[in-house]
Amino acid sequence: MKQAENNFNIKVNDILIRYNDEGPKEAPVIIFIHGFPLNKSLWDKQLKSLKDDYRVIAYDIRGHGNTDLGAIDFSIDLFVNDLLGFMDTLKIEKTIVCGLSMGGYIALNAIQNHPDRFTALILCDTNCKADTIEAKEKRMSTIINIKENGVAKLADDLIPNLFAPESFKTNSEEIATVKEMIVTTSKQSLYNSLHALANRKETCSKLNSIKVPVLILVGEEDKITPPEEAISMQKQIKDSSLQVIPHAGHLSNLENEDEFNSQLIKFMGSLK
Ligand code: MLT
Repeated sequence: MKQAENNFNIKVNDILIRYNDEGPKEAPVIIFIHGFPLNKSLWDKQLKSLKDDYRVIAYDIRGHGNTDLGAIDFSIDLFVNDLLGFMDTLKIEKTIVCGLSMGGYIALNAIQNHPDRFTALILCDTNCKADTIEAKEKRMSTIINIKENGVAKLADDLIPNLFAPESFKTNSEEIATVKEMIVTTSKQSLYNSLHALANRKETCSKLNSIKVPVLILVGEEDKITPPEEAISMQKQIKDSSLQVIPHAGHLSNLENEDEFNSQLIKFMGSLK
C-alpha cells in the first residue's frame, strides 16, 4: 500500500510521535487511532478519501510504526495521555476521533475522561468490555509464543482472525500490508501492548455519559469484536448509529473501503 504523504514527527511526553497530517488546516479535524499491532498506515485509504474536506490526522501509537517506545509500561491510560499530549502540542483543542479496536478502547477512554476535547466519536470494530480471565491468560501465552516462535508466527496466528474468509480471495494486498505491519512491530512493544490490553478497564458502564454524536461501524464477520458487541454499545449511547459493513471482518476499513468510507462521509456530513 502506498504510504500516505505528509509524514511528521512531534515530541510528546517522553517520545517522538510519527504522524500524517493532511487536508485544510482550518477544516474540522479527525484523528484516527489504529489497532494492535498495526500502525497509522491502516488509515491511508480513509485519509485519501477525506482529505479534501477535513483535516485528517493518523498517528502511530507509542511503540507502533515509527513512534518511540519510551521507557515506561504501557496502559490504555498512557495511550490516552499520549493522545491528549499530541493534541495539545498540535494546538488542537477539540477533535473528532475515530478508533479501530485498540484505537477504539483508547478513544472511548479518552472521551469518557476528557469529554470537552471531543466533538464526535467513530468506533470501529471495537468493544467496551475488559478482558475475561481467559482472554488475559491468552495474552500472556501469546507473549510466551512470541518469545519462543517469533513475530512471523504471531502474524500467521493473528491474520486468520483479522480478516473475513472472503478477504483472502479479494484483499491479498491488504493482507500482505497488515502482515508487514505486524512483523515490523518490535517484540518489546508487543509485550507491553499485550499487558496494556489485558489490564484495561471496561468502559461499558460509562457509555451513557457520552453526549456527542457517535457512529459505530463493524465488519459483518468480525470475529474479534463481533456485531453483537457493537449493537450492545449502540443501545447504550444516546446519540449513536450503527452500520454493519458487509464483506468485512475485524479490519472493515481495509476490507470494504468503499462502504466504510461512504458511511464515514455520511456521518461527517451529518455533523455540519
Ligand atoms: C486490535 O485489533 O486492536 C486487537 O484485536 C484488540 C484486542 O486484541 O483486544
